[in-house]
Amino acid sequence: MKDTVIKPFHAVIFGGDGDLSKRKIIPAFYHRFVDGQLKMPFQIICISRSLDDEADFKKVLTEFISKTIEKGAALEKIDEFMDHLELMKVPKTNQESFEVLKTAIEKESDWQRVFYFSVPSGAFSEICNTLKDVNLLNDKSKVVLEKPLGFSLKSSREINAIISDAFQEKQIFRIDHYLGKETVQNIMVLRFANHLFERAWNADNIESIQITVAERLGVEKRAGYYDKTGALLDMVQNHLLQILCLIAMEPPSNLDPDTVRNEKLKVLESLRFFDKESIKSNVVRGQYTRGTVTNEKVNSYLEDIEEYNSETETFVAIKAYIDNWRWKNTPFYLRTGKRMKKKYSDIVINFKTMPHNIFQDSKHPLKNKLIIRLQPEERIELVQLSKIPGPGGYRFKPISLKLDFVDTFKERMPDAYERLIIDILRGNQTLFMRHDELEAAWKWIESINSNWSKQIPLDLYESGSWGPGDQVLDGNDEWQTK
Ligand code: BG6
Repeated sequence: MKDTVIKPFHAVIFGGDGDLSKRKIIPAFYHRFVDGQLKMPFQIICISRSLDDEADFKKVLTEFISKTIEKGAALEKIDEFMDHLELMKVPKTNQESFEVLKTAIEKESDWQRVFYFSVPSGAFSEICNTLKDVNLLNDKSKVVLEKPLGFSLKSSREINAIISDAFQEKQIFRIDHYLGKETVQNIMVLRFANHLFERAWNADNIESIQITVAERLGVEKRAGYYDKTGALLDMVQNHLLQILCLIAMEPPSNLDPDTVRNEKLKVLESLRFFDKESIKSNVVRGQYTRGTVTNEKVNSYLEDIEEYNSETETFVAIKAYIDNWRWKNTPFYLRTGKRMKKKYSDIVINFKTMPHNIFQDSKHPLKNKLIIRLQPEERIELVQLSKIPGPGGYRFKPISLKLDFVDTFKERMPDAYERLIIDILRGNQTLFMRHDELEAAWKWIESINSNWSKQIPLDLYESGSWGPGDQVLDGNDEWQTK
């Protein structure tokens, strides 16, 4: 039996006054607290370089938390929650400044210590070294890392070396918030708890798989970060590849974190690399121009970032192959873009047509499609052909069998961060990327970005469209007609 009891803890959030902390991390703790999962003693310490007005900070946090509360629910436990939270001004990353943190943590020396690095990776080394210097690291410590973990294989290795010098792999939690989304986790259940699909889950029966994450938003206020990153590193290197792993991996023999991660690693290691030639017909990159999104006129990417020479992509489409027995020659289409017409993420499994057609008059190809909708609504849909009632032969219509999570499970859908935070506190690493997974993902990504700038053009697309029109590879029917 796995230990599911959460031991008392200190959670120290570096970048505690940052956007992610206010929008996601603290509200996630709040919801778990309200749901009664944090009954043990705990303290959340939000580290800020400049803020010291705790009352004001808590007011701001309360506003952020209230945005995540559904209609009708109250903030009734907010004061009780805020008693577990403190703002700590630590202006510098050095031993002297960390003394105040040390004193606070050592008051309860046997609690677990969760150090949450919600800061750019350039700051990791100094924080790790200072934590070591003031003797705050012990076997009860954990570290949580937010992406981006580097901008290349080389820099990711450097970051890893720094972290591994201070923490053992079992203490390191690399967050990919997509893995905390309910429907993403449900992929495992769908595949490995239902007889129906797994038998057909291979190249013999599946024609193609499409994984799409379309966003309406542009680059927002993250120009500095995004322009160095682009859609490939911001979305594909982590979120889309993680989804791909869950869809494509072999059944693990149990749910042990390393058993699951071993299977995901095999998928990443089987991805076919691109070279100067293959990239030309299998990868598209684009950048948004001015346009209209949900009736609102929006600027181009270059205007958004106020840097007119940038060639950073805000859209990428990739036709990928996994070279193993199960997926021989089955294309996996990975697509993501900002300033698209709609926000939605889904996985579409396109099954092959029936081997023989006895309904010669049918206008519809005889095949099924399984749609796993991750957001905005969470749903699984099986598209199948049905006979239109009435005399006069066989006329077909594709209809959907829908499992709508919101209708079926009336309770509120927890945010991805809530699940991940609980797993961190319990020490369950299944939903966190292991070092070798990250490395394998980087190797494949480098086969794209080391080849693409010279080999494929940057296509401009209008905001509010579906990306660089005709050039988004084949197998495109779903995408263009959403
Ligand atoms: C983040 C990216 O990891 O994921 C953002 O950095 C992106 O650019 C976001 O907007 C999308 O997350 P979600 O949960 O809204 O699909």
